[in-house]
Amino acid sequence: MYAILSTPNFHNQAQQLAQQLNLPLHSEKSKDPTFYLYYNTHGLNLMATHLNLGPLYLDFNHGALYQRLQRASISKEPLARAVGLHKKPELTICDATAGIGREGCLLTSLGARVTLIERSPIMVALLKDALTRCNAPWRDHVTLIAADSRDFLATTEETFDAIYLDPMFEAHSHKAQVKKEMQYLQALIGPEEDADALLTVAINLKPGRVVVKRPLKARSLLDKKPNFVLSLAAYRFDVYLS
Ligand SMILES: C[S@@+](CC[C@H](N)C(=O)[O-])C[C@H]1O[C@@H](n2cnc3c(N)ncnc32)[C@H](O)[C@@H]1O
Repeated sequence: MYAILSTPNFHNQAQQLAQQLNLPLHSEKSKDPTFYLYYNTHGLNLMATHLNLGPLYLDFNHGALYQRLQRASISKEPLARAVGLHKKPELTICDATAGIGREGCLLTSLGARVTLIERSPIMVALLKDALTRCNAPWRDHVTLIAADSRDFLATTEETFDAIYLDPMFEAHSHKAQVKKEMQYLQALIGPEEDADALLTVAINLKPGRVVVKRPLKARSLLDKKPNFVLSLAAYRFDVYLS
């Protein structure tokens, strides 16, 4: 179950969000398993009453996400090479599976213009809040769209140099090794069965390349052989060139 939790000093914002997302507004935490979105002085947070995790809060100005982007460089980031940023730094990229926006914003911070597409309204609310607070120089080069990418890519008139897909998959690693963000995504969204269809629409749009993140031993989406593969320790990027 999903709900908005009204907290002292943030009742109006909570009420507005509950209306926007068409979710119930609670003034107390329920005993049943519930994902709550709530505001505090930092911004919008997500917590799950049934998960032994701290709240999920996205912040591009401080902390781990910020430091991750600070450390990034085109030469050291395999994803940057996979999408072709080493050849043309001002690429226009569609990140069709935005999630917490980590990789999309990483590509933006390295010079790309990125359109983030996300279909989970909960993730969209968290991302929107984090991007509103974001004061990084790359902020204006990222656009967030709440949509199913299969619909967006099938109808858009925009053109992209690259489309990036990172659909959810079953985590095989031990829970303790999976970061909090991923645990939340797995609990909220779970493995996705429609990723093959996403690759079909992405390829049909004929961008310069489509890059798909896959677990190392997983089959390629659509069982389609990529033009080349960048393999890392825990996953790989399948790259399809137009
Ligand atoms: C593994 S996460 C992506 C993580 C992301 N690469 C990051 O760095 O934060 C997958 C995300 O893609 C979203 N997603 C999957 N299929 C989608 C689709 N067809 N349209 C829009 N979003 C989709 C899911 O809701 C989920 O939030």
